[in-house]
Amino acid sequence: MNIKNFINNDKKLGMVIRGYGITSALIPPIRKLKYYSVDAETNRIIFNNLHWVRTGEGHLLFQFMYLFLPTPCNQRCKGCFMGQDKRRLPANLKGKYFSQKELDQTISFAKESGAKAVVYGGGGELFMWSGAFGLIESVVRHGLGMVIFTNGTCLSSDKIERLNSLGVVLIVSLRDTVESYHNAIVGINGFRKTIETIDAAIEIGMHRDGRLAVEMPVTVQNEDRVVNDLLPVLRAIGIVPWIEEFIQIATSEEEKLCGHSFRQARKFFQRMAAKDTELGIQWTPKFGQRMSDQTKCQRPLYSFAIFPNRDVVDCPAHSITYGNLSEESLENILRSERFRKSLLNYKLCPCSVFYTDSNAQIPEDLPGYLKEAIR
Ligand SMILES: C[S@@+](CC[C@H](N)C(=O)[O-])C[C@H]1O[C@@H](n2cnc3c(N)ncnc32)[C@H](O)[C@@H]1O
Ligand code: SF4
Repeated sequence: MNIKNFINNDKKLGMVIRGYGITSALIPPIRKLKYYSVDAETNRIIFNNLHWVRTGEGHLLFQFMYLFLPTPCNQRCKGCFMGQDKRRLPANLKGKYFSQKELDQTISFAKESGAKAVVYGGGGELFMWSGAFGLIESVVRHGLGMVIFTNGTCLSSDKIERLNSLGVVLIVSLRDTVESYHNAIVGINGFRKTIETIDAAIEIGMHRDGRLAVEMPVTVQNEDRVVNDLLPVLRAIGIVPWIEEFIQIATSEEEKLCGHSFRQARKFFQRMAAKDTELGIQWTPKFGQRMSDQTKCQRPLYSFAIFPNRDVVDCPAHSITYGNLSEESLENILRSERFRKSLLNYKLCPCSVFYTDSNAQIPEDLPGYLKEAIR
């Protein structure tokens, strides 16, 4: 059973993923992505780190380290939070690839701090870079897993086999369930190749041990299809749904209107939960939740990110810079007063709208770009 089993062909729209008629998950739902999802161990790390910042006792732990690279991209997805569509990359994405020595140092530090994986989150498409497999092999040689966000368009079935043999976790991004809508958003005719990649990963069983997710940012345009088509199809096959609110930090005024308001997000999470209930999967949306199958975002409490300009930052939405590796070691940066204070003062990551039970629950100290979303 793969995505192609759920595709209809429409003369005008092209391939269309249809969830119609799916009444239950065909295999027990896989709701956790290996290395990356929040689980009991994540909560133990958070507890440990908060104890460390308050008392100085023990030592810091991390679940994974994000690595951002100056990789180019072959797509131009509207509203890409890395600014690839507008060719306006954030300053900390500009820099050189890491040398092997730098990589060895940072990966070793992450491993000593309990990390189980390195996560490539951007800033372009990893498989547009000839060094991609060298990097993955080096991470695996250090005894860590590799999680990769990818648009899936540059992966042949041989490459997918190789990734599978390296134990890689893939999060494949789609923008819509309809070929023509997806292609219009990403700026290339990539839909069919992305679907082929997902299906090839299913065929070799990557989904069976939680190593395959499909990511889709939710917008007012695609939300009906996300609920009625994408979610049931992913549940039916056993792919982890990485359905998330649209991040608005690099969006134009027009693109901002694609994102949910808090009220729309509330309704959307309730609809997702109701659809899952129909499929036999029970959950209740919780304050702060910004994506499927995850509690509220608390990544800075259990991970950190390194950008190509060597900035060490709190998360991929890079709101706080702790220090720069060209001036200080990673160890010193993550033991600095700046780092300790930001963990101590941590409340909630508002990179996008998130679930709230009512308007009264919406925090007052939101960043400016989210203030407009209180509609
Ligand atoms: C920046 S991309 C880099 C990796 C790769 N190029 C890809 O598209 O998967 C990492 C993830 O961010 C997601 N993303 C990009 N812009 C976003 C936005 N405005 N809101 C939510 N997710 C976004 C992508 O869909 C992808 O899953
Ligand atoms: S493929 Fe990834 S990095 Fe490239 S534009 Fe789309 S979201 Fe951004």
